[in-house]
Amino acid sequence: MSGQKKMPVSVAIFASGAGSNAERIIEQTLLNPDGENEDFSVDLIVCNKPGAGVLNIAANHGIETMLIEKEQFFRGDGYIPALKEKGIQFIILAGFLWKVPAPLIRAYTNKIINIHPALLPKYGGKGMYGDKVHQAIIAAGERESGITIHYVDELYDHGSIIFQANCTIDDQDTPESLAKKIHSLEHRHYPEIIKGLLKDAK
Ligand code: GRF
Repeated sequence: MSGQKKMPVSVAIFASGAGSNAERIIEQTLLNPDGENEDFSVDLIVCNKPGAGVLNIAANHGIETMLIEKEQFFRGDGYIPALKEKGIQFIILAGFLWKVPAPLIRAYTNKIINIHPALLPKYGGKGMYGDKVHQAIIAAGERESGITIHYVDELYDHGSIIFQANCTIDDQDTPESLAKKIHSLEHRHYPEIIKGLLKDAK
């Protein structure tokens, strides 16, 4: 086997929104000067929202997209056969708002990760997403927040934690300014953590 190039891990990103994290993750795969021996390649964007910004990002990078429907996602094997058929080996959630169903978690055990815009276990769980998280944190008078990258299990925002980074909150901060701080932490760390995880996975 020596001398043979390893294949990059084939990744699907699941996203429902603007896709700024998805874009940074895609850019990470373009940084390799050799271009043929990346640790991972983003081969599919899975999205549940027609018109979401992440679909434009996929198009700009020539990445295949799969628009999914709620009824099929939560029924039986859902989209597992389609993902397997496409050779997807690892799933990254980046602003994906539906709960991941148990069969999909079992089909990709320890191969699905998520980023949450707070320091779990605080400010996680059902209903805690997007701006609601930042509003709750500011309303509670917290002096710090941060990001959590974690494996996905069958409970919302519950799987084992891979990485956390924090930021301070000062008196002037609003949910909007906190969201900006969090996004910049996400953009700095999520691509790097993914690269590290998938390098070890090979
Ligand atoms: C991020 O803040 C992420 O933590 C949360 O959803 C947001 C997605 O933002 N789960 P974007 O679509 O990547 O810009």
